[in-house]
Amino acid sequence: MPQLFDPLTIRSVTFRNRVWVAPMCQYSISAKDGVVGDWHLVHLGAMAAGGAGLVIAEATGVSPEARISDEDTGIWNDAQAHAWSRVVSFIHSQGAAAGIQLAHAGRKASVYPEWSTELKGTMPVAEGGWQTVSASTLPFPGYDPPIALDATGIDKVVADFAAAGRRALDAGFDLLEIHAAHGYLVHQFLSPLSNERTDEYGGSLENRARLLLRIVRALREVTGDAPILVRFSATDYAEGGWDEEQTATVAGWAHEAGADFFDISSGGNVTGVTLPSGAGYQVHLATYVREQADVAVSAVGRITEAQQAADIVASGRADAVMLGREMLRDPHFALRAAHELGVELDYWPGQYLRGRWGK
Ligand SMILES: Cc1cc2nc3c(=O)[nH]c(=O)nc-3n(C[C@H](O)[C@H](O)[C@H](O)COP(=O)(O)O)c2cc1C
Repeated sequence: MPQLFDPLTIRSVTFRNRVWVAPMCQYSISAKDGVVGDWHLVHLGAMAAGGAGLVIAEATGVSPEARISDEDTGIWNDAQAHAWSRVVSFIHSQGAAAGIQLAHAGRKASVYPEWSTELKGTMPVAEGGWQTVSASTLPFPGYDPPIALDATGIDKVVADFAAAGRRALDAGFDLLEIHAAHGYLVHQFLSPLSNERTDEYGGSLENRARLLLRIVRALREVTGDAPILVRFSATDYAEGGWDEEQTATVAGWAHEAGADFFDISSGGNVTGVTLPSGAGYQVHLATYVREQADVAVSAVGRITEAQQAADIVASGRADAVMLGREMLRDPHFALRAAHELGVELDYWPGQYLRGRWGK
């Protein structure tokens, strides 16, 4: 079995280790143009300098209306790509791979940003919000109702993902992650609890998965040999909803369609359900998908300790781990974990060598 600090190769990219940074929205583009600046350079750059094998930039809108809030990052124009290239080039200079999560928030779009205002829920059009879209007209509880996408609208979403993916690779990103989790647009199509369509995008599992599979194929066509990851919520934690079995089946189909690796999270599509939250609470879901679909996966969710992360990889429960909140607390988690596990790294930043433990 590989160990946490062993390299991992997916297609054209070799990751120096299996300690990866999960995508995390920063709601920091105060100019509302989706163009990243110094915050993202420092925030993502610190985690690359901190030894992570892969840093995945946050859920990034493939179009203006795809953003969760108007302070989200974007990748639908050249100015955004140019700004990202500065961040990517710093991540690379630190020896980490750079990924970007391509996202469409669907019915969970056009909300107030999470932390810079007291206001919550749908941002009205008069304040800069926009009409949201989804699989159906069912609203996310507490938010304004979306419009159901028609065939032309669905084609545009697929084209937007493909154009965004191409632009991201041109900006230097090594890989693309499709956001199919947390109740955002692709998840809204996947789950029977948010998809009431009666056309070829609704009803059967094959139909609900059609949007995702079209996006995977469209991206594969424009990305050559770059790895494509898919982040799934493996379950809605609700009767009659999306679940592990459907996730594993669709992961298998997505793999055949050109996706390489699966990042397994959970929840986010419905309210009023109990979400587990203990240490490693989603690892078993990643293992399930890995075993059932015979695909490579990462585990995420309350992975906070070096030994815990090492055990997950060494026991074959996942091929890599992703960390979110622990990376916010300690962007140098990977360096610290290596020390705690007694692993010698040859990629300590030279500037920080005098800070090594025990030196
Ligand atoms: C500040 C913050 C922003 C997040 N934004 C995203 C996001 O953009 N895309 C996504 O898929 N998950 C997002 N998440 C979820 C994380 O990627 C991760 O799956 C979750 O926090 C559980 O892992 P953790 O316990 O290591 O934090 C976010 C989490 C946090 C804390």
